[in-house]
Amino acid sequence: MGILSFIFLLTYLLFLLSKVSFAVDSITPSLYISDGSTLVSKDGSFELGFFSPGISKNRYLGIWYKNIPVKTVVWVANRLNPINDSSGLLMINSTGSLVLMSQNKSVVWSTGLGTQKQAKNPVLQLSDSGNLVLRDGNSGISFWESFDYPSDTFLPGMKLGWDSTKGIKWSLTAWKNPDDPSLSTIFTYGDFTYGIEMHAYPEPVIWKGNKKVYRPGPWNGLRFSGSPGLKPNPVYDYNFVSNDFEVYYTYTLKNKSVISRIILNQTSNTRERYIWIEAEQVWRRYTSVPRDYCDY
Ligand SMILES: *[C@@H]1O[C@H](CO)[C@@H](O)[C@H](O)[C@H]1NC(C)=O
Ligand SMILES: *[C@@H]1O[C@H](CO)[C@@H](O)[C@H](O)[C@H]1NC(C)=O
Ligand SMILES: *[C@@H]1O[C@H](CO)[C@@H](O)[C@H](O)[C@H]1NC(C)=O
Ligand SMILES: *[C@@H]1O[C@H](CO)[C@@H](O)[C@H](O)[C@H]1NC(C)=O
Ligand SMILES: *[C@@H]1O[C@H](CO)[C@@H](O)[C@H](O)[C@H]1NC(C)=O
Repeated sequence: MGILSFIFLLTYLLFLLSKVSFAVDSITPSLYISDGSTLVSKDGSFELGFFSPGISKNRYLGIWYKNIPVKTVVWVANRLNPINDSSGLLMINSTGSLVLMSQNKSVVWSTGLGTQKQAKNPVLQLSDSGNLVLRDGNSGISFWESFDYPSDTFLPGMKLGWDSTKGIKWSLTAWKNPDDPSLSTIFTYGDFTYGIEMHAYPEPVIWKGNKKVYRPGPWNGLRFSGSPGLKPNPVYDYNFVSNDFEVYYTYTLKNKSVISRIILNQTSNTRERYIWIEAEQVWRRYTSVPRDYCDY
């Protein structure tokens, strides 16, 4: 190998090393994320940072797929309260809450934790599943995670339903439109939401405000009785958990190299499962069920 190509290789390696060292997946209270910098999950699947949706100039803190060239945002923090410039800062404050601040140091969004829950050594990490987790660095106990506050996207490992001990309800709410992640208000009744309701058995429901628009039938322990949507398929495995504390539906992907998500879409008026087609660089709607039904 010539000396020049050796130097080139060395420079290239150094470049790679420094590049990798900048892509961190977590921060502690001594670090912050400003508009322009990001967190990248360890395996490079997801990225957290500031973005402007569609033609909007507003800035939002969100999570998107790192490896997909079609910017696909799966979670938004300050949905209702955009920042109008690039002054956004995300940090863990001295009492262990995650806070998003704008120019005049006003809090735009926060995890809003009471002091009783404060961690001694908090760490914020973007996990490979796309879950943003605030945990105690010593005990590892998580005390806030973005999967508990879904936006319009249902990722593998997330839950739909509720946890009565934590007082959490997991549901999806559609974006208002592609330029605005605030809640959809195009309907007379208000928001467009997908969640789970308890009747004789838990059942999945889509609401436009307080009006139910989709109701495939109750979960009777075996399947959603009215729905051909839940059956064995080549893409995902599903599970339904119902006990005294929690009621939820969740799914995992059979093949870890397949990228798939469910989105509640107020334009098409339903929830849809998409699969990323790498060869064509597009999201394609996936369905294993008859027309007029939805995959879960
Ligand atoms: C951003 O909003 C603030 C008020 O919240 C206003 O004072 C400021 O001028 C706005 N900046 C831009 C660039 O619109
Ligand atoms: C500063 O923040 C407050 C909210 O805390 C907001 O009402 C006000 O418009 C902001 N002012 C400027 C100049 O950005
Ligand atoms: C940290 O942020 C939370 C949520 O905004 C707030 O309640 C708390 O007072 C903040 N702590 C400090 C020391 O500012
Ligand atoms: C998983 O998906 C990848 C990419 O689509 C494919 O190449 C591979 O064969 C799949 N593996 C299995 C076990 O189906
Ligand atoms: C919602 O559905 C419309 C119409 O099918 C489609 O053009 C659009 O891309 C979908 N939006 C999202 C966020 O998937």
